[in-house]
Amino acid sequence: MRVLGVNAVFHDPAAALVVDGEIAAAAEEERFTRRKHGKSPVPFSTWELPERAAAWCLTQAGLTAAELDAVAYSYDPQLAPQPNGDVTNDAWEGLRTLYASRAPSFLRTALPGLDASRVHFVPHHVAHAASAFLAGPFPRSSVLVLDGRGERTSYLAGRQGDDGFEVLATQELPHSLGLLYEEVTQHLGFQRSSDEYKVMAMVSYGRPAFLDAFRQAVRTTDDGGFRVHPLDLAEFVPPVRNGERWRQEHADLAATMQARLEEVLLELARWLHAQTGDAVLTMAGGVALNCVANSFLADRGPFERIWVQPAAGDAGTALGAALHVASQHGDDVRPMGTAALGRGWSAEELCAWLQKAALPHERPDDVAGAAAEVIAENGVVAWFQGRSEYGPRALGHRSLLANPTHADNLNRLNDIKGREQFRPVAPMVLLERATDLFEGPLPSPYMLFTHRVRPEWRDRIPAVVHVDGTARIQTVDRADEPLVARLLEAVERRTGVPVVVNTSLNTAGRPMVDDPRDALECFGSAPIDALAIGPYLVRRSALGARVAA
Ligand SMILES: [Fe+2]
Repeated sequence: MRVLGVNAVFHDPAAALVVDGEIAAAAEEERFTRRKHGKSPVPFSTWELPERAAAWCLTQAGLTAAELDAVAYSYDPQLAPQPNGDVTNDAWEGLRTLYASRAPSFLRTALPGLDASRVHFVPHHVAHAASAFLAGPFPRSSVLVLDGRGERTSYLAGRQGDDGFEVLATQELPHSLGLLYEEVTQHLGFQRSSDEYKVMAMVSYGRPAFLDAFRQAVRTTDDGGFRVHPLDLAEFVPPVRNGERWRQEHADLAATMQARLEEVLLELARWLHAQTGDAVLTMAGGVALNCVANSFLADRGPFERIWVQPAAGDAGTALGAALHVASQHGDDVRPMGTAALGRGWSAEELCAWLQKAALPHERPDDVAGAAAEVIAENGVVAWFQGRSEYGPRALGHRSLLANPTHADNLNRLNDIKGREQFRPVAPMVLLERATDLFEGPLPSPYMLFTHRVRPEWRDRIPAVVHVDGTARIQTVDRADEPLVARLLEAVERRTGVPVVVNTSLNTAGRPMVDDPRDALECFGSAPIDALAIGPYLVRRSALGARVAA
């Protein structure tokens, strides 16, 4: 059957299309509208749909909305707080429920020809869970959904077994690990529900100085849930106001939040494992993007393997909801083999874009070799190849690449992107070489774990080693990513180092580059030495304005 998945309720609106159990397309609305996270996570925006992402998914598969068998909407308004007459109560929560319940008619407007009776509401955390256990490569797994919130809950523990999916525990709001992490994010002067990864980056600059208080406030219960009692964060350190620099105590607060999160996740994972005895854990929900906590679980937890949905945030519920509905209707759902589920362009189309922009370009024998040469000479390459990534990480399709052997390339990339200097960049490495350089869970194709850099390599790849000696690696399997594998081999031949710095191709505050125009605009507005777009290479030096390295 043909199922369109839609996420629209909170933020990161996205669409995904599953045809006869196979994932045909998945994309976030922000990549089309160029507004980061697509919209504000407020009840007033619940009516906004991923219109362009959904329309593209249909086009990609050559379908019309009338040909869809089902639309899977990743929120069930029946489970949510009901408006009870006044939608302004409880911070307009009733408005969210009302808008969500009207989604079928909104969708019919956005996708002309759609039969509104084919819209299925999938509970938010079932959609997250399905994005893990159905999209992951394991037929059976224990499942953790670690989220800010769904309809009435913030957390789900379950199991996908031979008889289908079973929910083993949930946690009702207001108790929420994700919302507490968001509160800390806001207190540290960042945007909640968006900048949590910046808090994670701050962690290694602090120590968990307030852990006793956090242990009192955040506790697990015997039934697989937890309680989060209110914490006055200003008691630990005043909030970071607009434009202020953060102090040591702020980093300590980040480190405390992270440490308690890890302890609680370990207890939740142990509880779940005691129920299931499974070898594999799959995870989704915004908190599952916390790669430091994921590594802690992989290292200390009871499961042998952990697989995390790369679009673990709400965008991934579009895919999860679609897979869930397809599976419920008896389709043989196949796992995702790649996160490259977004838009792509042919060489001819890319050539037309370059000609239109009147950019001098060359077509080398192998663009991977040509880009490797630029990187070996310490140039920065904008790398636009194949279909764009679903989820927040650049995985070698819309990436900025650089040489890891120069420590100052960290600051240089942060400058190019116009973002904070404490933000790390990450290494890509061939899967078969990863154990030579890094310790930690392998494979790691989606950058969802951190790894310890072996001591003998720390000085050789200083740009990607975090202050605590770790790195958030992406392993590249040559069977899945032959072009990126060739690039890594070519870089090693020239530099002796089998690693390339990889960070997302965008500038601060903007979504990742998705289409050729975005790529040209990004290249044109930032001191990037070369743009490798499909088989073509554009050198800034050929434009007559060389960038100082
Ligand atoms: Fe969620």
